[in-house]
Amino acid sequence: MALVTKSIKGTQDTLPSESYKIQFVEQTVLETAKNYGYKEIRVPVFEHTELFQRGVGDTTDVVQKEMYTFEDKGGRSITLRPEGTAGVVRSYLEHGLFNEPQPMKMCYLISCYRYEKPQAGRLREFHQFGCECLGTASPAADAEVISLVNDIFLFLGVKDIELQINSIGCPECRKNYHKALHEYFESKKADLCGTCLDRLERNPMRILDCKSPVCSAIAAEAPKVTDYLCDECAEHFGKVQEYLKAMEIPFTVNPSIVRGLDYYTKTVFEFVSTQIGAQGTVCGGGRYDGLVEEVGGPKTPALGFAMGMERLLLLMEAQNLPFPEEAKCDLYIASMGEKATLRAARIATDLRGEGLHAQFDVVGRSVKAQMKFANKLGAAFTMVLGDSELENGKAKLKNMATGEEREIQLDSFADDFMRISINESLKGLEDLGYESNIDIDSIMSGNLF
Ligand code: HAM
Repeated sequence: MALVTKSIKGTQDTLPSESYKIQFVEQTVLETAKNYGYKEIRVPVFEHTELFQRGVGDTTDVVQKEMYTFEDKGGRSITLRPEGTAGVVRSYLEHGLFNEPQPMKMCYLISCYRYEKPQAGRLREFHQFGCECLGTASPAADAEVISLVNDIFLFLGVKDIELQINSIGCPECRKNYHKALHEYFESKKADLCGTCLDRLERNPMRILDCKSPVCSAIAAEAPKVTDYLCDECAEHFGKVQEYLKAMEIPFTVNPSIVRGLDYYTKTVFEFVSTQIGAQGTVCGGGRYDGLVEEVGGPKTPALGFAMGMERLLLLMEAQNLPFPEEAKCDLYIASMGEKATLRAARIATDLRGEGLHAQFDVVGRSVKAQMKFANKLGAAFTMVLGDSELENGKAKLKNMATGEEREIQLDSFADDFMRISINESLKGLEDLGYESNIDIDSIMSGNLF
């Protein structure tokens, strides 16, 4: 295949026939976050490279190996965002959002870019839903953020996903831990990869998430951070667990979770599935109490998470979860001749004005081909317009599910069709066992609620 008709390795398209799935997931996550007080923030796809070097950390795999960095025509070093937190924190500072009532709760749906080896669940362009909560140090906030993720999985019907939590402490307890790690890895120096040898001096904790098999086997035996927590961090971690228990959110403590980004402090967590292959972490997050200061702002405790949308979809598909059907076409108006097509266009416009999905022939096909197309669309009703229908001012409306036909006046079409369509929906609800004593006139006049 020619190069220009092939997408770039590690990227993927969402086709029109599939997009209702991601739209449903996006709506669910945004609605859930709204119930927790989150408002959407939109930030640029690219930022100054330095933001990620300082924020994410220049000894991380993300910064050292995976960033899409380039020089723009003005000579600036620019990077496509590998994640959302750094950009949100930059925006929080730039716009003085710390002056607003805290905590500031912000959520985002973004594309991210990492030059990783593509495989199932690992892309070079992927999408995240993330939430950031800035301006609170309380362990109640940690549990609340985790509860938000838990609710998303509940509302989507996702099962068998394990919440693993850990605490990686503050810079104080990190000093002792780094010392212990340094001693341990120093003794294994001969087997570490080149990048990790550099990390040994600069940030030994990053060796723990090196993807090389030899380094990760060595890392598995390394001292655990939980044994080095100071009293304050240990107490905070205990409280987070108390809140999670009070909220009846099941979790396990996994002392091996350190996360791959440098900004984390205290609580870190991941939601992990075993059903989507090696890339089973669907969501990751934690506290980052030092990041705002690191980027040049006031001391601001904060926390958040991001979930990978592609991994979430993979998991939902693996579990055969339902995605609500897309709204089908309410009416397809087939037409014969230009005059009839003009009338069909008018009727379709009126119905769309009422919020219905109506289509007419914009190709110039035969009536037979138009009806075939209407069938493919899954149209609930069809109607054929020709010269005699226009002359008589009425046409036959066909219910495609039952085959039943009825006459309908063209003059009052929009109103009459709305009634018929609502009636059918109510009948459908009754068939499903719902009682419906709703009066159609109140729906039509918009006075239902
Ligand atoms: P992260 O763990 O690097 O954290 O990414 C979050 C999620 O994005 C992962 O759990 C995964 O589902 C998805 N993800 C990461 N890389 C890829 C990839 N190459 N292909 C497909 N999906 C991927 C962060 O990005 C943090 N900013 C999360 C956070 C927000 N922490 C605090 N606030």
